[in-house]
Amino acid sequence: MSAVKGILCTLKMSRLPLLLVLISTCWAEHHSNNSILEHDRTIFIKENGHRLHVEAAQTKVISYRGGNATLPCRYIRDPFSTGPQKIRIKWTKLTSDYLKEIDVFVAMGHHRRSYGNYHGRVFLQEGGENDASVVITDITLDDYGKYKCEVIEGLEDGVVIVSLDLQGVVFPYFPRMGRYNMNFNEAQMSCQDQDAQIASFDQLYDAWRAGLDWCNAGWLSDGSVQYPITAPREPCGGKNTVAGVRNYGYRDKDKSRYDVFCFTSNFKGRFYYLIYPNKLTYDEALQACHSDGAQIAKVGQMYAAWKLLGYDRCDAGWLADGSVRYPISRPRRRCSPNEATVRFVGFPDKKHKLYGVYCFKPYN
Ligand SMILES: *[C@@H]1O[C@H](CO)[C@@H](O)[C@H](O)[C@H]1NC(C)=O
Ligand SMILES: *[C@@H]1O[C@H](CO)[C@@H](O)[C@H](O)[C@H]1NC(C)=O
Repeated sequence: MSAVKGILCTLKMSRLPLLLVLISTCWAEHHSNNSILEHDRTIFIKENGHRLHVEAAQTKVISYRGGNATLPCRYIRDPFSTGPQKIRIKWTKLTSDYLKEIDVFVAMGHHRRSYGNYHGRVFLQEGGENDASVVITDITLDDYGKYKCEVIEGLEDGVVIVSLDLQGVVFPYFPRMGRYNMNFNEAQMSCQDQDAQIASFDQLYDAWRAGLDWCNAGWLSDGSVQYPITAPREPCGGKNTVAGVRNYGYRDKDKSRYDVFCFTSNFKGRFYYLIYPNKLTYDEALQACHSDGAQIAKVGQMYAAWKLLGYDRCDAGWLADGSVRYPISRPRRRCSPNEATVRFVGFPDKKHKLYGVYCFKPYN
């Protein structure tokens, strides 16, 4: 008789907030025998853990700006679960400090809703029963990050985290006003001005593994300040240190001033060196691109063309921020003898009539 009562309590206890109430009911029923109560609790925890299971076929998906990505997620219900419950699928994105969640998408029955910047870009994959995967279309740099798939059935729920990575390039940046001049906000904005976004630690780490070496500390999206060293040397943390990403830790976002590491991905447009009869001042460069139906190119666009398209041109040209640079994919004498890189000439006087110009024409 006690055993039967025990099982009844267990089934009722599948509704989480009622747990305390039901335990006290059981307690009242078996007031004189604690071991049954203990037994009930054990069964409850075990069964609840198996009632709704959520999983992802991959926890990392790679796409690129302008592309699509499918974030996988699927749920498995306990076949003996009590009655049909409406399933609610909820996707959120974790902020880069992991402190908050941004609403992305919810689906319940035939109802679907996507939020904010995701509006109209996120759809359920509908890949059969129990599929909670979503497709994000026309991916932006902002979409990079970690997403949480949460499946809710009544009071049960399960979650899984899926990372969306973008292919692209990390580059160090400082503006015309000079080195170590930007607080965190200004750093974020200067990346955006270069058609890029402030890089995450993971992106800088991957760039370091691919050979990025840069001896000036820059902000990252989590508010830390770091720099990547592949060839340890005296001015960059010491000659006898190991290679690695050197970390200054989290800095005061308002008062501390550093450079920044930016990240950018594929672009939809044409990046090119403008063939022009003579060298140009900065203002003439702006005008020349404009007359060609384009805009003066941004630093991020030069890096993306160099890294993703193998763009190579041994002509120093103006860019939108007033810097002069040129991209070299095939190192050679007098261009960049030892290194495939974007060469930085400097921020010359804008009146100097010594350089060409790189333009960018977006596709419609
Ligand atoms: C509690 O119930 C169990 C199973 O019915 C029994 O074996 C045990 O002796 C009881 N304990 C007490 C203290 O009454
Ligand atoms: C992304 O998906 C949309 C909608 O299914 C489709 O029209 C578009 O061609 C896809 N884009 C790419 C780059 O695959």
